[in-house]
Amino acid sequence: MKRDPLPSVRGPVLCVVGARPNFMKMAPILRALAAHQPSLPSLLVHTGQHYDADMNDKLFVDLKLPRPDINLEVGSATHAVQTAEVMRRFEPVLDTHRPSCVVVVGDVNSTLACSLVASKKGVPVAHVEAGLRSYDRSMPEEINRVLTDQIADLLYTTERSAHDNLAREGIDGSRAHFVGNVMIDSLLANRALAVAPQETLTRGNVDLAQFDSSRYGVVTLHRPSNVDDAATLGPLLEVLRDLSAKLPLVFALHPRTRGNIDRFGLAPLVGGDRIAVLPPQGYLEMLGLMSNATLVLTDSGGMQEETTALGIPCLTLRENTERPITIEQGTNTLVGRDRGAIERAFGEIMSGKGKLGRVPELWDGHAAERIAAHLGGWLAHRPSTAEVA
Ligand code: UD1
Repeated sequence: MKRDPLPSVRGPVLCVVGARPNFMKMAPILRALAAHQPSLPSLLVHTGQHYDADMNDKLFVDLKLPRPDINLEVGSATHAVQTAEVMRRFEPVLDTHRPSCVVVVGDVNSTLACSLVASKKGVPVAHVEAGLRSYDRSMPEEINRVLTDQIADLLYTTERSAHDNLAREGIDGSRAHFVGNVMIDSLLANRALAVAPQETLTRGNVDLAQFDSSRYGVVTLHRPSNVDDAATLGPLLEVLRDLSAKLPLVFALHPRTRGNIDRFGLAPLVGGDRIAVLPPQGYLEMLGLMSNATLVLTDSGGMQEETTALGIPCLTLRENTERPITIEQGTNTLVGRDRGAIERAFGEIMSGKGKLGRVPELWDGHAAERIAAHLGGWLAHRPSTAEVA
């Protein structure tokens, strides 16, 4: 077997993104690394897990992300093939650039794939958004979280409950650092730039004479557990259709969900004047839609946090959440897929009794700066390559 090169302490910080929910987390980190004194040069690697204009290019523009230095262009595939392809293509990047460390965010397949390659080559891994657990191993993201946290050297957390989860898995607490939420850094930095809902709806060919844009709910659904089975997706869409009689809904359709609605012949359930169906939205469009919504119905992880930060009631169409602080302190309520639970929680919000919540500790717009400060200090105190050798 070929001997792996040792990591270089002076090498760049290699920042990895793969899929849409990574982009808003990495944007503030790249800025904070650039602003750090002494400078922490970075390289942006995109695995290409998401590649569409809607899912990728538009968000890069909105978030002012630099063009990736390296794109692995893996595209869509089964979990095994996608993860394996990222690993295969990422290894030579480490050989070429000899980074001081690899920063991964979130819980997508690219997060785990790159962590695994780096850790096997002795390159330190920093995991941002560590320690979140749904305790539901049928979620692909849960497997990615558990395994990434086991092998990462630095674990940056968004809420204190993450530290208990890590301790339960035997992870030494000295690796974990509570820094706050980089997703909320992006939200606060971009709030003033959010696109007005009326503009987004008009661009989406929604007739504002028919659709009341002053009072609406926002819907997103993309979890395989909700959308991959007609027997689950059908009843969920029926509930949404019924809710839309009381509150018009804006439904931003993920490509997975759109494909399944077509395949299962469910399109009539989301037709009509009361549900505005839009393609996946840009970051600033979604921020505008959420900020002005009466409520949000979603199975997204990030939107549970964003609605808590915005003070907008959120009904999460899942049985569990890896982000319990959004329930304990924020505006989030777990309603699962049960019609009765969804209608009850919806009714409470409509009658003005929705959760008000408060913004959790350290969700203050400065999490990425805390990460850069800690990482900079940590790297400066690591022995140099020569000493290691
Ligand atoms: C992935 C992440 C999930 C994240 C979600 C956000 C994993 C395991 N899952 O799930 O955690 O919440 O991204 O979207 O990493 N497709 C396109 N264009 C694209 C990307 C995908 O059309 O740019 C289609 C593909 O045909 C694919 C389907 O959408 O089959 C699903 O995409 P995929 O990346 O497999 O998973 P997501 O459901 O997006």
